[in-house]
Amino acid sequence: MRRKLAAGNWKMNGTGDTLAELAALLRAHPEPGCEVLICPPATLISRACAAVGAAPIRIGGQDCHMAEAGAHTGDISARMLADAGASHVIVGHSERRADHGESDAMVRAKAQAARGAGLVAVICVGESGAERDSGATLEVIGRQLFGSTPDGATGNSTVIAYEPVWAIGSGRTPTLAQIAEVHDFIRSELLGRFGAEGTQIRILYGGSVKPVNAAGIFATSNVDGALVGGASLTAADFGAIVNALENA
Ligand code: 13P
Repeated sequence: MRRKLAAGNWKMNGTGDTLAELAALLRAHPEPGCEVLICPPATLISRACAAVGAAPIRIGGQDCHMAEAGAHTGDISARMLADAGASHVIVGHSERRADHGESDAMVRAKAQAARGAGLVAVICVGESGAERDSGATLEVIGRQLFGSTPDGATGNSTVIAYEPVWAIGSGRTPTLAQIAEVHDFIRSELLGRFGAEGTQIRILYGGSVKPVNAAGIFATSNVDGALVGGASLTAADFGAIVNALENA
């Protein structure tokens, strides 16, 4: 059985005062019925971990460098994230692929680095609007998934997040049939490559997940949870999404 996962990506949002939202989430969900992960900016990871304490909410990074250490000014290694208290790291988010020119090979190396540091890698894939319009969605997802996921990926080391680029921050989402088509495709690709272990790898949907559409998305085939951007910034909205997943 795959444990459902509600993951929040705060992106480049949040300073110390934003941790009040995390505290409110903890008060509202002291024992969540699904796994809950918050990925704040790196500057807040230590303080977020201190705020969570022994409560069962996990804290993750939003990116890591592929190298263990060295002359990479401004970058953060997977081991540094783990040292700060993180248990997960997002790799290959479309904003990093676009803003920092990250290729599938780089994302795969980052996911490998994450595994080496004992972190769960949340590997993001997703087609652009133009790619969907031209009918290339499954081809793009297949290529990104294969290129970005390390050999030997397991349910314990790896989570896949399907995030259509055109749905991120836009208020637009694919139809539930379109989400099911891609998630079923990802599942069959994982089974083909990793055998039985492919059933253990969770597949999240991301892109304009809100309290109002969460229940429908969570009832969709092979959707094991969500990677949430904007709606993860407030305890009220993210808590409602956690509730929807608990009840899914
Ligand atoms: P939004 O939920 O704001 O669309 O962002 C999704 C996302 O990119 C999460 O990683």
